[in-house]
Amino acid sequence: MKTFKIMSVFGTRPEAIKMAPLVKELASREHFESLCCLTGQHRQMLDSVMDIFRLKADYDLNIMQKQQTLSSITTRALLGMESVLDEAKPDLILVHGDTSTTFAGALAAFYHKIPVGHVEAGLRTYDRYSPFPEEMNRTLVGDIAELHFSPTCANAENLRREAVRGEIFITGNTVIDAMKTTVRPDYRFTTQALNELDFEGKKIIALTCHRRENYGQPMHDIFRAVRQIVLTHPEVEVVYPVHLSPAVRDCAREELGGVERVHLIDPVDVEEMHNLMARCNFVMTDSGGLQEEAPAMGKPVLVLRRETERPEAVAAGTVKLAGVEYENIVRLANALLEQPEEYEKMAHAVNPYGDGSACRRIADAIEWHFGLRNEKPADFKP
Ligand code: UD1
Ligand code: UDP
Repeated sequence: MKTFKIMSVFGTRPEAIKMAPLVKELASREHFESLCCLTGQHRQMLDSVMDIFRLKADYDLNIMQKQQTLSSITTRALLGMESVLDEAKPDLILVHGDTSTTFAGALAAFYHKIPVGHVEAGLRTYDRYSPFPEEMNRTLVGDIAELHFSPTCANAENLRREAVRGEIFITGNTVIDAMKTTVRPDYRFTTQALNELDFEGKKIIALTCHRRENYGQPMHDIFRAVRQIVLTHPEVEVVYPVHLSPAVRDCAREELGGVERVHLIDPVDVEEMHNLMARCNFVMTDSGGLQEEAPAMGKPVLVLRRETERPEAVAAGTVKLAGVEYENIVRLANALLEQPEEYEKMAHAVNPYGDGSACRRIADAIEWHFGLRNEKPADFKP
């Protein structure tokens, strides 16, 4: 007998990747009806994830516009959610992380007096403009939510310091659950450019870069640094699946278009991406998700940002904060390429972000919240 309706609201690629295993876990529980409401903040990049995980949307607000502004995403999602919530009347809304969809989804639920569970709760830089607007989104959602699912102990500590209302659970990150199904040693790429890479004979760097606070000069400097690294190392090839944001694509084309051994390709599906990372030499990125995934695969990561809300892998030694300045990025990449002992120091698998059971813990916590289980789930411990 399905007693409780749990609606997961998401709209961008990373939210979908990290919510997919949870949507399925909830659907497998006897007392839950698991509904999916997409805002469609992303279109192609979201649909690709839905296809890979074979998920079907119950609602799709389809809000994406070319070069959308933060206000347009938030207002279109908020308005779209109105009729969905009136019709579906869920018992709990789940949102993920820190996007504009996350904030609008939580606010819409609050306006309907529906409780909110926040997955990937408590990550902080304490710099409201970096990452922008994500730091503010997740802080505001922390105030709205009643159930906080923190990946790590440090994330939970942040929330306790802020004295948020409701229950905090330490669950691990659901992305590690997702990787259980995507990373395979015998995986064959479907993207021709990836099939042609020589992972044995060359040093392949997997690059991604898309953050709003890097738009403009920082992104130009990052890409100039990448060009310098490639030009001075004939053994290096860079694979960059370029985000569909026009601001990113224009900059990437300008700085890296036509550069020998730099492969600018369209975004790849998540199986392609995870298996590319599993086989590459190291990762350069400003993405949040890649900072969690690559360490689990034993791949060094240079983070192309001034700060990170994911300090655990920095502490473990597999991630370095490279910043956005040309010289520092070149220096750190050179060290990885030219000093084997530097590379070895960073290239070990660590799992501070999860053990693959985050979704089970979250579903157990929700059962506990609804009085379906006596015990709270035990915390994730690395
Ligand atoms: C958004 C999130 C960011 C997250 C990132 C993941 C906000 C404010 N930002 O940033 O936190 O890290 O997603 O990738 O919520 N586009 C397409 N097709 C797609 C996706 C995007 O054409 O499938 C283009 C559109 O022109 C769109 C633009 O990219 O207007 C930017 O998308 P948007 O969601 O506004 O910002 P992201 O940089 O993707
Ligand atoms: N990813 C993907 N295809 C790509 C690039 C990234 O599937 O071409 C995956 C990546 O493995 C990670 C997620 O998308 O799981 C990260 O998304 P993104 O960098 O867009 O957002 P962020 O994590 O920074 O919020």
